[in-house]
Amino acid sequence: MTKKILIAYYSWSGITARLAKKLQAALGADVYNMSIPTDTFSADMYETSAIAQKQLASGNLPRLTVVVPDLSQYDLVLVGGPVWSGAPATPVRSFLKEIAGSSVPLAPFYTHTGSADDYEQEFAALAGQHQIFKGMGVVGAHIADADIQIASWLEQF
Ligand SMILES: Cc1cc2nc3c(=O)[nH]c(=O)nc-3n(C[C@H](O)[C@H](O)[C@H](O)COP(=O)(O)O)c2cc1C
Repeated sequence: MTKKILIAYYSWSGITARLAKKLQAALGADVYNMSIPTDTFSADMYETSAIAQKQLASGNLPRLTVVVPDLSQYDLVLVGGPVWSGAPATPVRSFLKEIAGSSVPLAPFYTHTGSADDYEQEFAALAGQHQIFKGMGVVGAHIADADIQIASWLEQF
């Protein structure tokens, strides 16, 4: 694999961050953490879900507090985040909106507890004109055992 890859991820409770770390270890790629203001969500999952629903209804997505790197230097961006209500978490949506002007190919990776639903279709719809590779979904409890799944996902790049 000779591509220059960026791993860009959001993680509300640290699970997708663990998967991003494994990808980083496998690829030696650069990493961008989609930081948002710390008071955006609650520590409670249900309150967080309600806040995210309000963001979706208003279109007022979280602000990314760290500038997104210049994507023209990358051949591929692996975009990671948790599944929220069967779809990408709102900070991932903020990221996709922010990079709308770029044409770098994207590949989604995501963590969930068992119902990823239409995550990849939703991701593709949000990603607009970007070329999208097949994604990788991992149940959070299985990340420690995901090395084979990760290696096989990375083979396509
Ligand atoms: C607001 C919210 C909505 C969620 N919706 C789903 C869902 O629809 N399906 C699912 O399997 N897990 C769902 N989860 C669980 C997370 O996707 C899962 O725990 C994920 O691995 C968390 O990753 P993170 O620690 O990187 O945020 C939800 C969690 C939150 C906080």
